[in-house]
Amino acid sequence: MNSYRNYRWENIDLRDRAALGACFDRYRPDGVINLAAETHVDRSIFEPGVFVETNILGTFNLLEEFRRLNCDPKKSRFLQVSTDEVFGSTNGAVLFDENTPYRPNSPYAATKAAADHLVRAYHQTYALNTVITNSGNNFGPYQFLEKLIPLTIYRALLNQSIPLYGDGQNIRDWLYVEDHCRAIEKAYASGRPGATYNISGQNEITNIDLVKQICRIMDVILGGGPREKLISFVTDRPGHDRRYALDSSLAQKELDWRAEFPFDINLRRTVKWYIDHRSWMEKAADSRFQDYYRRQYSGEILPLKEFKP
Ligand code: TYD
Repeated sequence: MNSYRNYRWENIDLRDRAALGACFDRYRPDGVINLAAETHVDRSIFEPGVFVETNILGTFNLLEEFRRLNCDPKKSRFLQVSTDEVFGSTNGAVLFDENTPYRPNSPYAATKAAADHLVRAYHQTYALNTVITNSGNNFGPYQFLEKLIPLTIYRALLNQSIPLYGDGQNIRDWLYVEDHCRAIEKAYASGRPGATYNISGQNEITNIDLVKQICRIMDVILGGGPREKLISFVTDRPGHDRRYALDSSLAQKELDWRAEFPFDINLRRTVKWYIDHRSWMEKAADSRFQDYYRRQYSGEILPLKEFKP
């Protein structure tokens, strides 16, 4: 973990103000990049309380500790990593830009919206040097199995049904994790104080087309298939946003950022990563995940070990 001399790992619950305060006193950071959050919409429907605590109060605690250090706004920065879900659903004609009003539809999105509002207020009220980034759906290695892309790969490896909500026609705007990291780096280094930036990979695709594409990639790598036949339409998520679509021209103009590699290449790379990291998946699919899966989909899930290539 500590392979960089300026890097330390501290495992702190953001709700624990005392522990957070001690950490701020120990390191006196010039900057904060807040990527910590409860992130999964389906979980937020079951247990919204922990989302309120972590995403809203956790961000509040971070802001307060940062303010307590009395950082010089010329040298310090608080970067809040947020989501396109704060804007709600678009009908297709309009892309979300930085002036689009917030209209969150899920408890998750509402807590991220509230946290963003706090960050904005701390800039206006206390002159904290803040930047907010709102990105599309992330994908890439190490993403937890609950999310659509790793879940599809996991279920297809087990030769088990792949659950698609509703009619599968919902559209998401996908962003490769390394492109996102570069955007965050640039926003932190050169974003305007108080600004928000939309970060889009310009990869809009329906869920059904995405899942079919993953299945085809797996068919090519592993043989067998077609895995498309595993797709199973299940009860829709309540309040399921139809489409997210971001205009990220401001980030291009002011941060000189754009997504680097084509979506197809990143998707293939991601599928390959999961296939090559079976043991990581086995560990991630622990009993807590199995309980979650059963609750969410009311179906049984087999341990990955039972997968026979
Ligand atoms: P997800 O990865 O949960 O991200 P988000 O809800 O933040 O967009 O879901 C991406 C899309 O895939 C979303 O439209 C919901 C859909 N989805 C399914 O159809 N089936 C699933 O099992 C999951 C987890 C998601």
